[in-house]
Amino acid sequence: MTPDRARAARDLLDFYAEAGVDALVAEAPGDRLATAHADAAPAADVAPVPQRQPLAHVQLSVSAAPLARPPVAPAPDVAVIAAREAARSAASLGELRTMLEKFEGCALRTTAKQLVFADGNPQSRVMFVGEAPGREEDLEGLPFVGRSGKLLDQMIAAIGLDRTSAYIANIIPWRPPGNRTPTPQESQICLPFIQRQIELVNPDILVCMGNPATQTLLGVKDGIKRTRGRWFNFHTGTREIRAIATFHPAYLLRSPLDKRLAWRDLLAIRTALDEPQA
Ligand code: URA
Repeated sequence: MTPDRARAARDLLDFYAEAGVDALVAEAPGDRLATAHADAAPAADVAPVPQRQPLAHVQLSVSAAPLARPPVAPAPDVAVIAAREAARSAASLGELRTMLEKFEGCALRTTAKQLVFADGNPQSRVMFVGEAPGREEDLEGLPFVGRSGKLLDQMIAAIGLDRTSAYIANIIPWRPPGNRTPTPQESQICLPFIQRQIELVNPDILVCMGNPATQTLLGVKDGIKRTRGRWFNFHTGTREIRAIATFHPAYLLRSPLDKRLAWRDLLAIRTALDEPQA
């Protein structure tokens, strides 16, 4: 391959990786739906789907398993009811995690590599909630371990916290493909689980990071520039706690000037933690 063609190929692969396309399924395009629905041997005019091959320039972690027929997800309202029942029946964080692992109402589980449940100390007095895992989180099975996670670690360290004294989770526990924004239906389906997780962790302070977490958990319509720094009452199901909205670390990586506002929010969280407990 000439250097020009090699560079063009690398650029194209980078473009695909940025867009979330990080697996090569086959050498040539094919109608995978037709293949998936041909139960027996593939029809003569449908090429068999080759096993997945790693792309040289894109970091991959793909299974060599043959393509399975995608499961049919239930209608969103049915899934929300199922999610509420499953979440309510979990008596502990361990049970909630098991419920989520078995839950088939959210199609994101089929594209994610694994469930990203939580990290940190479930005895903590403060719980941070983000939106949804990204690529690194999907690979490691832990929230906020990528670039925005490193910033989150620095932010909480600035007020004397770390993952042994804070608890971290997301509204959505599976990576949306290509890091796309979760749909409102996906958020509503996952909401009962994060609500129950908050109830079981029972923190004194809930920190909603970014618009999706703030709007989904606190039920506000205003954008994060208006809501950040404001205290809200949040009913966990068993008691009223304080909740605060702040910028998402991923936003702060793009808009570092707003770190000074996030710093104010962090100081407010520290002050609230230092207040004598009732
Ligand atoms: N962004 C999130 O909202 N959550 C993560 O876990 C990682 C990035």
